[in-house]
Amino acid sequence: MKKAERLTRIVVSLGMVFIIASCGRGNFSEKPPIHLNPNMDSQGKYKAQSESNFFVDGASMRTPVEGTVARGELREDDAYYHGKDAAGNFIPKAPMAFTDDMVQRGKERFNIYCVACHGVNADGKGKILFYKYPIPPADFFNERIKNLNDGHMFNAISEGWMNMPSLKAQVSVKDRWAIISYIRSLQQN
Ligand code: HEC
Repeated sequence: MKKAERLTRIVVSLGMVFIIASCGRGNFSEKPPIHLNPNMDSQGKYKAQSESNFFVDGASMRTPVEGTVARGELREDDAYYHGKDAAGNFIPKAPMAFTDDMVQRGKERFNIYCVACHGVNADGKGKILFYKYPIPPADFFNERIKNLNDGHMFNAISEGWMNMPSLKAQVSVKDRWAIISYIRSLQQN
């Protein structure tokens, strides 16, 4: 076979392979695509809020079994987790000594979560006033606010306070105390 002929044969057969391989492109198919490496794409699973016919109440999302506490979730310390004493009153002072690290961490968190409303200077003049928030956020240098119990402040961050929203989903318990330590350090100046 001559060289040129061999070359022509190779080109033609390659061309045919391409034609066959590209057959069906652009055509619709009712069949599911061939999944060479399915991984976990098509495993049986429940999506959030979906229905389940396995559980009696039909809900796929389950609440914790009554009377049980997940490991590491036992929040017995009322002072630390709620800012309250055993009788349910707000504790006057935080249940730990404030350290410089805490104040630094608190400053960082305050500048993320509180400034928009309470202002960088903690004087209640945050950006939100520009957008006409109906109730002015607290000025941390106001005498009444200065005299608030640490426990009450903790509760305000956790549960919200009148026109202030709760921030417990965004700010961890540890960080809430750190923010309070920062506010207290500012108030001393
Ligand atoms: C969406 C705006 C907003 C954010 C964010 C916000 N606050 Fe407030 N905060 C307010 C408003 C408004 C008030 C006044 C509420 C009222 O008197 O109705 C307030 C009041 C307070 C008070 C006073 C409660 C009292 O007894 O009068 C404290 C303490 C406080 N905020 C702490 C914080 C801290 C700490 C953060 C950040 C972790 C924070 N707030 C984030 C809007 C906000």
